Amino acid sequence: MNRRRRVYEGKAKVLYEGPEPGTLIQHFKDDATAFNAKKHEVIDGKGVLNNRISEYIFQNLNDIGIPTHFIRRLNMREQLIREVEIIPLEVVVRNVAAGSLAKRLGLEEGTPLPRSIIEFYYKNNELGDPIVSEEHITAFGWASPQEIDDIMALAIRVNDFLTGLFLGVGIRLVDFKLETGRLWEGEMMRIVVADEISPDSCRLWDIKSKDKLDKDRFRQDMGGLVEAYTEVARRLGILSENENIITGGPRLVQ
Ligand SMILES: Nc1ncnc2c1ncn2[C@@H]1O[C@H](COP(=O)(O)OP(=O)(O)O)[C@@H](O)[C@H]1O
Ligand SMILES: [Mg+2]
Repeated sequence: MNRRRRVYEGKAKVLYEGPEPGTLIQHFKDDATAFNAKKHEVIDGKGVLNNRISEYIFQNLNDIGIPTHFIRRLNMREQLIREVEIIPLEVVVRNVAAGSLAKRLGLEEGTPLPRSIIEFYYKNNELGDPIVSEEHITAFGWASPQEIDDIMALAIRVNDFLTGLFLGVGIRLVDFKLETGRLWEGEMMRIVVADEISPDSCRLWDIKSKDKLDKDRFRQDMGGLVEAYTEVARRLGILSENENIITGGPRLVQ
């Protein structure tokens, strides 16, 4: 366990060398960061919840033929994934105005968008992940025009799936962030969904109460983050009614 090689330590996760070439172990920490890591806190139980929620979503994506890096969950905090060549873009899909889009364009938060909008941000901590256009992406060689088309098609499919999944449990998918990567299989390369999909990377609003069930609770100092993530997990059927990640030793449903 402790002798394995750490490949990368990020803000919310650690990557370790996997058991076979081409695999990695993705470890979910309890660290929460926002505003380009200017705000940082450790929130007990967050990593366990994100590991489970992300597992559930990625397994479903795999099952319906949307390719991802996910192989299987290993334990409470870790999952086995395929190593990919990460495309240095944060792909954001938006259905409802919120966050930086609402600010940038002067839209009231909660305004439904005329159609789903895809945005690209250059993944670079020093620069604070600036928004970029397809022109920048191709000019600087971060992805080819064909790859951008593939990424957008993937993003729309994921959006359609997630919108329906969450709608079914009374949650509006306002927006979410995807990372994608190149997966090489011999001479063939395809683009797959990588990283995580969890309440850290989505905006999820309860349809009835409009409660925020995502990382905005941390960004906006609202408290109740673990309770909100637990609620998302419960509604998706990942945790049974009375289980609690923090107290009383969690008994997770398989
Ligand atoms: N399948 C994968 N192969 C290689 N790198 C990955 C894969 N999935 C995610 N990553 C990268 O691993 C890191 C996950 O750790 P995280 O804490 O999110 O880092 P960061 O602070 O860079 O966002 C990210 O940089 C992400 O791009
Ligand atoms: Mg990250």
